[in-house]
Amino acid sequence: MSEQPVGVVGAGTMGQGIAQVLVTSSFSVKLYDVADDQLGRAQQAIDKGLGKLVAKEKLTESDKTSALARLDTTTALDALRGCEIIIEAAPEQPALKEKLFRDLSHLSHDAILASNTSSLSLTRLAAVCERPERVVGMHFFNPVPVLKLVEVIRAEQTSDATVARIERLAGDLGKTAVAIADSPGFAVNRLLVPMINEAAFLLQEGAASAADIDASMKLGAAHPMGPLALGDLIGLDVCLAIMEVLQEGFGDPKYRPCPLLKRMVAAGYLGRKSGRGFHVYE
Ligand code: CAA
Repeated sequence: MSEQPVGVVGAGTMGQGIAQVLVTSSFSVKLYDVADDQLGRAQQAIDKGLGKLVAKEKLTESDKTSALARLDTTTALDALRGCEIIIEAAPEQPALKEKLFRDLSHLSHDAILASNTSSLSLTRLAAVCERPERVVGMHFFNPVPVLKLVEVIRAEQTSDATVARIERLAGDLGKTAVAIADSPGFAVNRLLVPMINEAAFLLQEGAASAADIDASMKLGAAHPMGPLALGDLIGLDVCLAIMEVLQEGFGDPKYRPCPLLKRMVAAGYLGRKSGRGFHVYE
C-alpha cells in the first residue's frame, strides 16, 4: 500500500465516504476542510460507517480502531504537502475548485490531483495547474463505501501514467474503474440525472404521486431506489447543477431542468441533507 498519506479535500458526504474507504483499505488519510465542525461530523459519520461494517462482521472492532487511527483531520491545506495523491471533493462551484487546484498545484508540485467532480470539466481544472498532466477525474458514487464504480476521467492534458496510477488506486480500494473522456456528465450522471429530472416532470404534471413514481422504477425496473428518492439522496441542488451542465454543454433542449426541481432548490428543499426533498426525512 501507499507509504504516503492520501489527501482528501472536503469533508462533506463524498469526502467522508472516500476517506472511509481509504482508511478501511489500509491507507493513511489527511482529510481537509475549511470548517472544523464539518470535520467533527465527518469523523462521526466515518465511525458510524465503520460500525456498520463491524455489525455485519465484515470488519473486526480492532480493524475499526486501526482504520480510525489512520484518519487525520486538518483545517490547514498546507498539511496536504507531501501527499502523492490528493482527491478533491469540495462543493461543485467552478471558481472554488479552480482556486483549490491552483493552490494545491503550488503546494504539492509532484502530487496527482484527482477531482471527484460530478460534472465539471477536468480539462478546465487542469488548465489552472502547474502540471496539468497530473490532473484527472476520480468520480465515486454515493454511498461511496457501497457502490463499486469509479469513473476515471481523462482531461485533454492527463498523462497515461496518471490514469494508470488512479486506476491502480481504485483497484486497491476494491472498486471497478471505467475510463471515460471529459464530456459533460461523464457516463453515469448523463444517464441517471435526466431520469430523475423526467421523474420530476411526471410529478409536476400530476401524472402520478411521488410514492408511485418511485415504486414504478423499483418494482418495474428493479432499481434499488426510485428516481425521486435517489434525487433526494444525491441532493436536488446537485441534480439541478448537473442538468444545467448538460444543457449548457450539449445545447440540447432535452436537458432542460424541470421547473419543479428549480423551485424546490430555490425553497431550500434539497433532499435528505435538508430534511425535505421529494420526500420528507426525520
Ligand atoms: N459504510 C459501510 N457500509 C454501508 C454504509 C456505509 N456508510 N452505508 C450502507 N452500508 C452497507 C449496509 O451495511 C448494507 O450492507 P449489507 O448489504 O451487507 O447488509 C448495504 O450497504 C446496504 O445498505 P442498507 O441496508 O442500509 O440500505 P439498502 O439495502 O436500502 O440500500 C442503497 C441503500 C445502498 C443506498 C441502495 O438503495 C442503492 O444502491 N441506491 C442507489 C444509489 C445510487 O444510485 N447512487 C448513485 C448516485 S449518483 C452519484 O453518487 C454520483 C453523482 O455525481 C451525483
